[in-house]
Amino acid sequence: MDMFQIEGAKPLNGSVRVSGSKNTSLPLLMAALLAESPSVLEDVPDLRDIREMVRLMSHLGATVVREGTRLIIDPAGFNVDYVPYDIMRKMRASFYAMGPMLARLGHARVSLPGGCAIGDRPVDLHLRGFKGLGAQLGRSSGYVHARSVGRLKGSRFSLMGSNGTSVGATCNVMMAATLAEGVTIIDDAAREPEITELGNMLNAMGARVEGMGTSTLRIEGVERLHGCNWKVSFDRIEAATWAIAGLATHGDVTLENVGFKDMASTLRALEQWGAELTWVNESTLRVRRGKGMKRALSVVTEPFPGFPTDAQPQLTVLLALTPGESSIRDTIYPERFMQVPELNRLGARIKSPEKGRIEIHGVPVLEGAAVMASDLRAGAALVVAALAAHGTSQVRRIYHIERGYERIEEKIMGLGGSIVRLPETDADPGLDSVLFGEETTPLASETMVPTRAVS
Ligand code: UD1
Repeated sequence: MDMFQIEGAKPLNGSVRVSGSKNTSLPLLMAALLAESPSVLEDVPDLRDIREMVRLMSHLGATVVREGTRLIIDPAGFNVDYVPYDIMRKMRASFYAMGPMLARLGHARVSLPGGCAIGDRPVDLHLRGFKGLGAQLGRSSGYVHARSVGRLKGSRFSLMGSNGTSVGATCNVMMAATLAEGVTIIDDAAREPEITELGNMLNAMGARVEGMGTSTLRIEGVERLHGCNWKVSFDRIEAATWAIAGLATHGDVTLENVGFKDMASTLRALEQWGAELTWVNESTLRVRRGKGMKRALSVVTEPFPGFPTDAQPQLTVLLALTPGESSIRDTIYPERFMQVPELNRLGARIKSPEKGRIEIHGVPVLEGAAVMASDLRAGAALVVAALAAHGTSQVRRIYHIERGYERIEEKIMGLGGSIVRLPETDADPGLDSVLFGEETTPLASETMVPTRAVS
C-alpha cells in the first residue's frame, strides 16, 4: 500500500484544471445501459470508482472502452441481471445498476450495500421508488430481488426519507422510469446538479424528463432510448477541495473548468470566511485570501443548493486554522466526522459535543504528523491539512483518496506543493522530534477530549 508524504506550509499557487465529476459520471455511465445503441461520454475522470463502474458494466455484458478522457459504451451485450457482493462492497454506487436492469431486463438481483465509514447508508428509498413503479421486491441472503411483469408502470410517489431525500435513489428511479409505461411523478426528488445532468443526458437519449433542479420530476416513459454523446461537467467537490487548499496554505489558486451555479453555496461560505473570489471568465475562478480578518463560521450541510456534505471535511481544515469558534453540523451524514481525530493529531482543536456537530477552536498552525484516511473526503481533508501544516506529514490509506481525485500528486505539484508517493512504512515523521527532544507544543486540554463522532 502507498502513502503520501507531504512537506507542508508551502502556499499553493497557480492554475489547476478541475476534472469531470465523479458523482455525475457514475449514473451517466449506467444510464448508457438504458439505450439500444452506443454512447460516448467525454471528460470522464480516470479514477478508482470509475474503473470499478466500468468493471461492473463489463460484468453486466456491456463493452466499455476508454480513449483518453472519453468512454465509449456499447450496451448491446447487456444481459446480466445481478450485482454480486464483491463488486458492491467496493463501491456503493454499484446499486445504480438496479434501475437499468429492471427497466431493460425486467429483473434484478443486487447485493445490499451495507454501511460504510461515513455512517449507515440504507437503500430503502431506491426500493420505495422501484415499488412505486410496480416492481415486485424480495430479499434474501443479503440480496434484494426485483421483478417487473411486463414494463414498469409509471405512478406518483415521494422519495422523502428520515434524513431528507436521496441523490442516489432519485437517479436510480429516474433511470428506470424513462422506460416505464405511462407517466411517473417523483415528489421530493433530490435537486443536485448530478440529477439535472442525468435528466439532460436521458433526454438527449430520447427520454422525456422534466423538472430537473426542482423537487418534482415528471417522466413520461418511452419504449426505447438511443445512445448519445455527452460531456460530463466539472467536479464541484474537487473544485471546492482546491479552493480550500489554496486558502488554507495562504496561496492563490485559479480553478479552470468550473461554474458558479453548482458551487454557489460553497463559494458563499468561503466569501463569508474572507476569501476573495474573482471570475476570470465564466469557467475560471481565482481564489485567494481577502485582506481583512478571517471569520469563524457556523456551517450546516444540506441537500443542494445548501452546503455540500462532501466538502465538509475539507472546510473543517480551513476553520481549524481560523481564529475563533466555528461549528459544523452535518444533517446528511451525522456520523461523518472521521477527519476530526486525525486533524487533532496535527494539532487542531476540534470537539464533537453531540452527534452530528463539531466545534472548532481555531489554532494558528497545524504541525505535520502521520495520519490515516478513513474515507474519500476525510482523506482529502487530511491532504489539505498536511499541505497547510508545518513540517512533514504522512497520509496513509490513500486508496480512499484515489477513489475521487484524479492525478492528485501531479495537480498538487503543479501548484507548487510538495508531495511524494511512497510505500507505507512504520517510520513516523513525528517520532524523530520526540526522540531527539525538539521543541514540542504544550497539549491543550481540549485536544485530549475524545472526538470520535461515531457514538
Ligand atoms: C451521493 C454522493 C455522495 C454524497 C451524497 C449526499 C454519489 C456517488 N455519491 O450519495 O458523495 O455524500 O450523495 O450528497 O453521488 N438515505 C436513506 N435511504 C436511501 C438512500 C439514502 O435514508 O435509500 C439517506 C442517507 O443515509 C443519507 C441521505 O439519505 O443520510 C442522503 O443520501 P443519498 O443522497 O442517497 O447519498 P448517495 O446518493 O448515496
